[in-house]
Amino acid sequence: MKEQLLELEKKALKELAAVGDPGGLEEFRVKYLGKKGLLTGFMKKVGALPPDERPGVGKMANFIKANLSEYIDQARGRMALKKEKRVSFFDVTLPGREPLRGHLHPITQVIREVCQIFSRMGFRIVKGPNVELDYYNFEALNIPKDHPARDMQDTFYISENVVLRTHTSPIQVRVMEAQQPPVSIIAPGKVYRRDSDVSHTPMFHQVEGLLVDRDVSFGDLKGTLTSFLHQMFGSDTALRFRPSFFPFTEPSAEVDIQCVMCGGEGCRTCSHTGWLEIIGAGMVDPEVYRFVNYDPEIFSGFAFGMGIERIAMLKYEIDDIQLFFKNDMRFLRQF
Ligand code: PHE
Repeated sequence: MKEQLLELEKKALKELAAVGDPGGLEEFRVKYLGKKGLLTGFMKKVGALPPDERPGVGKMANFIKANLSEYIDQARGRMALKKEKRVSFFDVTLPGREPLRGHLHPITQVIREVCQIFSRMGFRIVKGPNVELDYYNFEALNIPKDHPARDMQDTFYISENVVLRTHTSPIQVRVMEAQQPPVSIIAPGKVYRRDSDVSHTPMFHQVEGLLVDRDVSFGDLKGTLTSFLHQMFGSDTALRFRPSFFPFTEPSAEVDIQCVMCGGEGCRTCSHTGWLEIIGAGMVDPEVYRFVNYDPEIFSGFAFGMGIERIAMLKYEIDDIQLFFKNDMRFLRQF
């Protein structure tokens, strides 16, 4: 009986090796393990054996049955895999997948572009501290203690005399304090104000400019800023210098460019005026020279400051400043 079982197993394995498709596999299973299968028939006969032979033969039959079932499952798995492979076969004509390449943040790009333009005009790039003394941020810029710009609503105070700088203008004072004229610097950096909506964030970027020498006039200021804005926004961009006020410049001006969205016709971005305010500027107030020991009888100069996010928003037609700081790759990848 045992020999017959072993014969049967041998024969089954040989047949199984020749089975090539799921249909044949099912036929094989029924032939051996089905209700009327060859192995099933053997197992039915076990009960009729003499009691001392029963356990040994029964065990062997069960063992062979388990093995065959296992082999059938394995063969079925191999066939499924083969089929799948055929479908997703590697297509050598597909274009390759490019690895993601990083690039500079749009704000960094605009800062570099602004600095590059002024570098070419001879301005030296300098930096100053973000955590600044009240003295440099306000006092020496002719912003006295009771000035509204110092209000807790606008300024982050570290202590009574230390603030997060609210503009890059304190760098003007630090530079003039360190050297006598001629001086021409451009100073990019982060600034901080207690403000947050679609056009304001508590931290944003400015670029400050300062030039002091003998015989510097308002005409020099106009020429310098006109050249800069034409390089930045295109040489056919219309400009407008509007009288304004800053405590540290006199006279002061705000520079507008023709609205880049509507070309001056009037739209939501320019509040239907056709113009966009882009730079604060003016001739350095003699009061400031007093703090840095410059002689206002000999020297004159101009200063200007601009918001980088605002320039980037206009240049790339972006309507929400918060997008610059969310680090959403879908936004950043466009630059
Ligand atoms: N510091 C001013 C501001 O933040 C801009 C400015 C700079 C104006 C230099 C005049 C001269 O609004």
